[in-house]
Amino acid sequence: MTRRQVTAGILAGATVTGAALAADHSADDVTLPVPRSAGGMPLLACLKRRHSTREYSERPLSEQTLSDLLWAAFGVNRPSGDRTAPYWRHVMVMDVYVAKSDGVWLYDAQVHALHRYLPDDIRAQTGLQDFVATAPVNLVYVAHGERMKDISPEDRRLYASVDAGFIGQNVYLFCASEGLGSVFRGAVDYAKLDRLLKLPEGVFVTFAQTVGYSRA
Ligand SMILES: Cc1cc2nc3c(=O)[nH]c(=O)nc-3n(C[C@H](O)[C@H](O)[C@H](O)COP(=O)(O)O)c2cc1C
Repeated sequence: MTRRQVTAGILAGATVTGAALAADHSADDVTLPVPRSAGGMPLLACLKRRHSTREYSERPLSEQTLSDLLWAAFGVNRPSGDRTAPYWRHVMVMDVYVAKSDGVWLYDAQVHALHRYLPDDIRAQTGLQDFVATAPVNLVYVAHGERMKDISPEDRRLYASVDAGFIGQNVYLFCASEGLGSVFRGAVDYAKLDRLLKLPEGVFVTFAQTVGYSRA
């Protein structure tokens, strides 16, 4: 499986993604621990705590916390394969990339696994603010605009941004529950990040979001 195939969305159809990745147990596929789907802080307490954080320690997230985070962000929450966040017209366009010190990983929600996408630490390139380089996790929300048929390029950006926003709020609320910091970010050099992620025509970065422990 090449990076281009992954990016081009050959793996992007819900069931196909899972089947393909499940069959490809290379060293670069990481099956995440089963995510917690119960517990956490009450919703109203999370809403009370939700805020943006811009100072992070370098403390990494445990595998379990990363697993829980990704499930909360955009994991599968029903037998239909649908997700914790709503998405435009039931057309799956969003991919969640995870930029960590050990490289860039693509989240496969159907099998709840990470597939290595790039070996490089590109955290510094996921945004224009200094903290992104050292925070343990930067999520990058990538949209397959080419799957959004019969609408203008402007509307593709609009609806993809809304999809990303819902995921972002899930992440904010999960972080509030877990005592993690987060910030949803549009201050990104988009052309550079699209290039770095080798995104083909029509596929684009919408927003990024940092997650980590607050330095305070
Ligand atoms: C679309 C969008 C883009 C944002 N981009 C950035 C950003 O690039 N950098 C940043 O530090 N915060 C960014 N934020 C976070 C906002 O600055 C923040 O949510 C706002 O100041 C309110 O603060 P709060 O989240 O602590 O309530 C963004 C928020 C949204 C919704």
